Amino acid sequence: MPLFGIPGARPRDPGFTQAFVIALCNQKGGVGKTTTTINLGAALAELGRKVLLVDFDPQGSLSVGMGLNPHSLDASIYDLLMVRGTDPHTIVRPTKVDQLDILPANIDLSAAEVQLVSEVAREHTLSRALEPLKPEYDVILIDCAPSLGLLTVNALTCADGVIIPLEAEFFALRGVAMLTDTISKVQERLNNKLQMIGILGTMYDPRTLHNREVLDRVQEAFGDKVFETKIRRTVKFPETTVAGEPITSYAPTSPAAQQYRDLAQEVLARCPAA
Ligand SMILES: Nc1ncnc2c1ncn2[C@@H]1O[C@H](COP(=O)(O)OP(=O)(O)OP(=O)(O)O)[C@@H](O)[C@H]1O
Ligand SMILES: [Mg+2]
Repeated sequence: MPLFGIPGARPRDPGFTQAFVIALCNQKGGVGKTTTTINLGAALAELGRKVLLVDFDPQGSLSVGMGLNPHSLDASIYDLLMVRGTDPHTIVRPTKVDQLDILPANIDLSAAEVQLVSEVAREHTLSRALEPLKPEYDVILIDCAPSLGLLTVNALTCADGVIIPLEAEFFALRGVAMLTDTISKVQERLNNKLQMIGILGTMYDPRTLHNREVLDRVQEAFGDKVFETKIRRTVKFPETTVAGEPITSYAPTSPAAQQYRDLAQEVLARCPAA
């Protein structure tokens, strides 16, 4: 395990034999869900966790961000959800990063959203599909699509915790009430183990007063649910998408890589089972 020399790295408590599942969720588009899934996953892997990234967005951005071509996949998470008897191990792929695997997706997943509507226990489909993989990972991160539809409800039903990335801009809080309402409903009706892990400020530029004001408002609204770590705006992130790898390997000494490492430490502190 690549624990050596990494400050704060510690092995997972051997008492936990099932993966801790985290959904990255916000129905607003372009707020950093996929970027956070990839880089938090890579930072957790550096800390010695075995991590599975689940692309649960028909756009397939997570798959692209990890260097895959979504159009040329033989099989994707669609098959796992919709084709009975599919072995998830045939769909999971390793990545260039040690301890980090991916379940890829592509546009086929949008058909699943429609087909699932008529399924029995439709909200539990992802949870059932991931069950065989849970003993093999410490953490599973699910990158949700920008919607509160059935796919996202499936992700929340399957998750132990949820992280909400929020872009530090004026309309950031718009729609958050609807999102927290959906999370509460899933908690009450489908998954009482679901916890709110935290709210993450992304694309933050501390030089602009406006950005600082937005984050102050977020802090007022959500108090200690807001992660201390903020992810700053930098062109390095769009560059990593082109490179098809996380910031922690693309620019390992960059402040951006360090911010995701700090976030990983905060997540582990908030989720003892991860
Ligand atoms: N901290 C950052 N600084 C600068 N650019 C960023 C940052 N985080 C993400 N980006 C860029 O912003 C764009 C949107 O990010 P990302 O794809 O992670 O958002 P998303 O919430 O997953 O979007 P969608 O809702 O479409 O799935 C991408 O081009 C990404 O490279
Ligand atoms: Mg995305």
